[in-house]
Amino acid sequence: MPRPLVAGNWKMNGQKAAMDELAALEGALSSRAANCDVLICPPFTLLGAARTATKRFSIGAQDCHFAESGAHTGDVSAAMLKDVGCDYVIVGHSERRADHGETDTHVKAKAEAALSQGLTAIVCVGETEAQRDAGETLSIIHSQVAGSLPKNANAETVVIAYEPVWAIGTGRTPSVEDVEQVHTAIRSQLEQMGPELGLVRLLYGGSVKPANARELMGAANVDGALVGGASLKASDFDGIIDAYRS
Ligand code: PGA
Repeated sequence: MPRPLVAGNWKMNGQKAAMDELAALEGALSSRAANCDVLICPPFTLLGAARTATKRFSIGAQDCHFAESGAHTGDVSAAMLKDVGCDYVIVGHSERRADHGETDTHVKAKAEAALSQGLTAIVCVGETEAQRDAGETLSIIHSQVAGSLPKNANAETVVIAYEPVWAIGTGRTPSVEDVEQVHTAIRSQLEQMGPELGLVRLLYGGSVKPANARELMGAANVDGALVGGASLKASDFDGIIDAYRS
């Protein structure tokens, strides 16, 4: 079994005062160890401060450009993320795919940029509600995984997050059976692609809360969570991490 990962995605939330939440989380993890890795992905502006604030968990960004440097106003490269102390970067989140027109081709290029800098890429996939209603979930996920994974992906360099678009920020989640069906399909797709992909961590994301974390994290082939809203407060996030405390 891969070691689980619980990752918080702060999205476009958090200013300097949010470092208090990181300090609280650091305290919670030192007093009650958990059987998982923990990652926080704050906005770009807080990456340096977050890195300085903690030794107990990893720091990641929410996006990167695929180029190493150059004339790309407003963008941030994987090399810059590495330089500021990041360990991970999320690529292909559905909000990036929807708001910025990112396709699998872009996501793959960004993931390859991340790997080239020694960062672990968290590659996000997920179906819309219309796709689920049309019975297309498994085929959509299959093509996103096939199209978005970087060259040289393996269990160290890549994490996959399955996030149904309709479950993000809505308070709605798929049933445990539905999550298991998708995760098991991704697992067998990865095994067919190569033995080095068999133990890639598969996170579930979309309205994970303390109240549902244990059930969702207990599903077959679920190796952790990607958490949005409930990662902003240390007490909520720590309540999700509880799924990996006995
Ligand atoms: P949510 O977001 O937990 O607020 O639903 C999850 C995500 O988008 O990563």
